[in-house]
Amino acid sequence: MSLFQSSTRIIPDAPAVPRHIAIIMDGNGRWAKKRFMPRVAGHQRGVEVLREVVKACRKLGVEYLTVFAFSSENWRRPADEVSFLMTLFLKMLEREVAKLHENNIRLKIIGDRSRFDNELRQTMQEAEQLTAKNTALTLTVAANYGGRWDVMQAVKAMLKDRPQLAQTFTEEDLQPYLSMSDAPEPDLFIRTGGEQRISNFMLWQLAYTELYFTGTLWPAFGFGELEKAIASYQKRERRFGRTSEQLTSEQPADGQPVGQADA
Ligand code: IPE
Ligand code: IPE
Ligand code: MG
Repeated sequence: MSLFQSSTRIIPDAPAVPRHIAIIMDGNGRWAKKRFMPRVAGHQRGVEVLREVVKACRKLGVEYLTVFAFSSENWRRPADEVSFLMTLFLKMLEREVAKLHENNIRLKIIGDRSRFDNELRQTMQEAEQLTAKNTALTLTVAANYGGRWDVMQAVKAMLKDRPQLAQTFTEEDLQPYLSMSDAPEPDLFIRTGGEQRISNFMLWQLAYTELYFTGTLWPAFGFGELEKAIASYQKRERRFGRTSEQLTSEQPADGQPVGQADA
C-alpha cells in the first residue's frame, strides 16, 4: 500500500492551501527574446524566480513543490542550449544546496539520469543525500523527465521485482514504483508562458489536479502571481467524480472504497 491516497481509489482531502503544487516553468526563451537577449538569459533569470517561489511556498505552508526543469523531449533543442541548461543545472545545485539545507528543504530529482554526465549525477546524489531528512518542504526537480517514461519505468521495475504480476496488477501494486510515490498527488498545477498543455509532465499524478494557466512568462512570475493561482484553486469545487450536492450534504459517497478489482 502506498503512503498517500490515490484520487481514483479513494476520495482524497482537498486542502485549502494546496499541499502539493506542480509547475511547468515555461516562457524563459520568449522573455529573453522580448528583451533582445539570448534565450539562455531567460533560463538564468528563471532560476532566480524559482528561488523566490520556493521561499514563498515554504512560507505559505505548501508541503511539496514539483517543478519541470527539463523534459525528455527538450533534448531536441539546439545543442548549445541543451549544454547551457546542463551547466546551469550543475551550478544551481552546487550553489543552492547549502541554502536549501539551511532552510530545512528536502531536494529530490526525478527523471532518467542515465543521459547526464557523471559529475552532474554525482552532484544530484549528494544534494539529495544531504537534504534527505529535511521536513519543511520537499522540492522535486524533474530533469530529463517525461510522464510516459515514468509509467513505463514503473511497470518495468515492478515486473522485475514481482514477475508474477505480469498476469494482473492493481494501481496499488504500481504506485510504489512511480517517481512521485512518496508524495500526495498535486492539488494545483500551474503552467506559465501561455501554452495550455501538459507537455508530458506527471501524466499519472495530474488525474484530479486543478489546472491553472497564466500568460505570464516564467521569469516574470512572482509572489503575487502565485497567490492568484492559489486563490483560483480555492474557488474550485473538487468533486472527484461526485455531484455537487454530495459535497454539501453529509452523505458519504456510494461505492467507497472505489472498485477493488480493477484488473
Ligand atoms: C522553459 O522555457 C524552460 C525549459 C523548457 C528548459 P522555454 O525555454 O521553453 O521558453 P519558451 O517557451 O521558448 O519561451
Ligand atoms: C515544457 O516546456 C518543459 C519544461 C518547462 C521543462 P516546453 O517549452 O518544452 O514545452 P512545449 O514544447 O512548448 O510543449
Ligand atoms: Mg517553452
